Order: sequence, then C-alpha cells, then structure tokens
Amino acid sequence: MIFEFSNDPLASASPDAALAFLSFEDALVPPEIGHSQGPLREVIDRALSRSRFKGALGQFIDIIAPCGTSAARILLVGCGAKAGLAELGIERAAADAYRRVHATGATILELRFDPACAKDAAAMAFGVQLAAYRFDKYRTSEKSEKKPSISFTRIVSAEPETAGAAFQQALPLADAIYFCRDQVSEPPNILYPTEFARRIQGLDLPGMEVEVLGEDAMRQLGMNALLGVGQGSSRRSQLVVMQWNGGRTEDPPMAFVGKGVCYDSGGLSIKPAKSMAEMKWDMGGAAVVAGLLHALARGKVHANVVGILGLVENMPDGNAQRPGDVVTSMSGQTIEVVDTDAEGRLVLADALWYCQQRFKPRLMIDVATLTGAVEIALGQEFAGLFSNDDALADRLLRAATLEGEKLWRLPLAAALEKLIESPVADVKNYGGPEGGAITAALFLQRFVNGCPWAHLDVAGTTWQSTSSLPTVPDGATGFGVRILHRLVTDYYGGAVSRSDAPHAHTWTC
Ligand code: BES
Ligand code: MN
Ligand code: ZN
Repeated sequence: MIFEFSNDPLASASPDAALAFLSFEDALVPPEIGHSQGPLREVIDRALSRSRFKGALGQFIDIIAPCGTSAARILLVGCGAKAGLAELGIERAAADAYRRVHATGATILELRFDPACAKDAAAMAFGVQLAAYRFDKYRTSEKSEKKPSISFTRIVSAEPETAGAAFQQALPLADAIYFCRDQVSEPPNILYPTEFARRIQGLDLPGMEVEVLGEDAMRQLGMNALLGVGQGSSRRSQLVVMQWNGGRTEDPPMAFVGKGVCYDSGGLSIKPAKSMAEMKWDMGGAAVVAGLLHALARGKVHANVVGILGLVENMPDGNAQRPGDVVTSMSGQTIEVVDTDAEGRLVLADALWYCQQRFKPRLMIDVATLTGAVEIALGQEFAGLFSNDDALADRLLRAATLEGEKLWRLPLAAALEKLIESPVADVKNYGGPEGGAITAALFLQRFVNGCPWAHLDVAGTTWQSTSSLPTVPDGATGFGVRILHRLVTDYYGGAVSRSDAPHAHTWTC
C-alpha cells in the first residue's frame, strides 16, 4: 500500500477513486459537501433521505459517484457523535472505509475528514494499514474479484508533513503487528520451534540481542517442565531470549514471556480432532512478545526490555510425557502432570522462573493462549488479565483502553489453590474445569517468585474466524502487541526516540 498525505483534495480527481467522508450523528453531511451545490450534493442528500443512515458508528453509505464527479464511488462512514471522537474512532472509521471498498475495483482510497489534524490523518493511515493485512503466501490462485484493488490511500490533511512524520512514528508498531500475525498464521509444518527461533535470529533489528537455548542448555538449567512437553515431538524445543537495551544501563528491564506451543495436539491426553485443527496458533503469546520487541527495536524506544519465548511442540509418541509423570521444574518445585494437554503452564513455569532469576526484572508479563476456560468466561473480545500487583494491572487496563484491545481482570482466588494440590508432588498441572482460567493463573503464580507480574490469557482473542473490528482482518489478530507497546512507552513517558522529521509525503508499506 502506498500512503500519501496531501492538503489538496482536488488533486485526487481520478475515475478509480473511492472518496470517503467521515460522517457524524451531529454533522451528517461533511462541511465541504454541505457548502457546495451540484450533482454530488444532490446524490448525497438523496441517499441520506432514502436510507436509515444516521451517522452511527458502523453505519455506512456507499454510492456510485454521479456524472461529473471524477471519482468512482462516494462513501459516508458513520463515526457516532463528533464530540469525544478519539483517534481510535478515526482509525476505525478509516479501516472500515478500506474494508468496504477494498475489493470493489476502486484503486485509490481518498479519506476526507475536515479538519483532519496531523494526528487524525496518521491515525487514518494506521487504520488502513492494519485493515489491509493479508496472509496469502500459500495461495497459488485467487478469483480476481476477491483480490484487493486498492493500492493507494490518500489522506487529506491541512498538515501533510506533520501527518507523515506521525505516521512514520507509528509504522514500527504496524510492522510488528504484521510480523505477529504472520507467525500465528503459519501452518505448523512450516513454523516449528527451531524455525521460529531461526526467524527471530534472522530479523534485521540493529541493537537487538538474540540468544537461543537448545535442549542441552535447558537440561543443564533444570528446565524439566518445559522439556517434558516437547519430549514427544521430533522437533527440538527452544528457548529464545531477546533483549532490547534502549534505556539506561542501570535500569532493570521489563520482561515479557510468551507461550510458544507451535502445535498443541494435547499430547497423550490427545485433543478431539475438531479442536486440534486450531492449535497451530498456540504460539500466539510468543508471537506477541516477538512482535513487541520488534516494534521497540524498530522504534528505538528508550527502555530496557527482555522477551522470552518458550517454543515447543506438544505431540504424542513412544517417548511422550505420560499423564501421571512427575517432573522437577527449574524452580525445584515438583509438578504432577495429570493432563498433558495443560502444557502451556509447564512451559511458562520454567520460562518465568528463568526470567526472574536471570534478569531481576522490574515487572514480568506473560502472554499465553493458556485455557479454553477463559474463552468460555469472557468470549472472544476480552482477554483475561491476572496480576499480583494492582498498579501493574491498572497500567495494563489503561493501555488496553487506549489501544482498543479489551482486557478484563479476573481474580487470583486463593480459595481455588486446593484444586491444584497434588497427592504426590508440590502441585499438579490441572485442577479441573471449574475456574479453569483461574487455576491456570494460580499455577503460574507459583513460579514468579514474588516478582510484580501479570498474566494475559489470550486464548479467546488470538484468532478470530469472523472479526468484529475493521482494523483486524479475519484470522490472526495480533491482539496484545498494542497493549504491551503502549505499556512500555507510557511507562517511560512516551520515550520514543525522535528521528529527523521526514520530508516525504508518500509512504510505501
Ligand atoms: N492451548 C490450549 C488452550 C486453548 C484452547 C487455546 C482453545 C485456544 C483455544 C491449552 O493448552 C489446552 O489445551 N487447554 C485445555 C486444558 C485442559 C483440557 C487440560 C483446555 O483449556 O481445554
Ligand atoms: Mn493444551
Ligand atoms: Zn496449549
């Protein structure tokens, strides 16, 4: 996609353009149309009088442009009330405009919102970029009417240069969301632990340090909980450690730990066929953490951040872990593995312990497609948030609101600890279906050693077969990258390094 910021709406005159106006409940007709006379005004008045369009969020008018207008179609995109419209609303309106016309044959999308300040204009471009994501590398043919036709987005703003600079600043985050979605979309025969690690090592991110621990190194460290999960697979387990040290040397890092189960068959506690097909995206947490580090390094953010990815494949074979096995984790705590399908917490137990031991982080956040139970509790729009630290939980909730990704805090209910007590070991890895997301979080809490910690259970939000947000195409969502990126940058007061303001007006993404 090519983006252009311009202060000259007339220059767009193109027979292939879709012209999108933002429309509000309290200002239905965009001012530049309201003040004009002629066929465009007439056709819009007619459309408004013969439809139920009231400018509400999600409402839409798409009309073929009248003779004499040098555009293919005219769109009115409902945004709700004008007062209180935040950047997020503008971003979504632009994304919605793209989504509605992206395969209509129109080749140019011109977005007009009067007056679009630089931030609004950049938010529109960001929304279109997120909406334009596709994962089509394995398609060898596609019906031409399904192919996206829009390849150029033009945004009218009184401040095109500042808008370009603001968009440039937001691009690392968009790229990171693309990277995250790409990894989650990959099939499990292509993206297995060593391949995932290889891709992280291959990223061209100056200043990013990447280490990969293989099975021998992990065995020496005593990571038997993680290794037990991978032992039934012919693919080798990996622990990837990413470090972005953009902050002051003495500053303790923020740490992020991702569940990277590249395929979760359930192991010997094998899953039914229907739920197995989804389990290629059980590495979604690791993809979010990798995406976050990607964005921070690209954006040269002034913060010290560690990302740890626990990469395994959970498979049944003659060497696989058995329900009934007892493993000794790196922390020294013993775990009775009563269900080999509750594998994510075993991987995280060692990854979290290793993380706090080695880095002494100021805070630690894990991201994991951990339980089906969280999806039963909260559905697909909210991810579950657990934390042993109220201030951290509040920061995350605030970041989530600002970024339009929803979190809901659930309790680390001590009363449920008894469900994971084991008759033979210190703890067991599954406590039954009641409070399933909570007992999983309680299990993790035993491995954070008192460090300020939060756990995001993203099992319901990582993949959407039918997405409800225009900025999120169906499939891999990238949910979580924005929240964590906002958390890190806000923690340091928006400490993004400012590169020289770019002079370009067009951006190829
Ligand atoms: N990866 C799954 C959780 C999951 C379920 C993620 C659905 C995304 C969508 C996890 O490893 C798992 O298998 N959990 C089981 C645990 C139980 C049966 C032992 C679950 O929650 O059903
Ligand atoms: Mn599982
Ligand atoms: Zn899993």
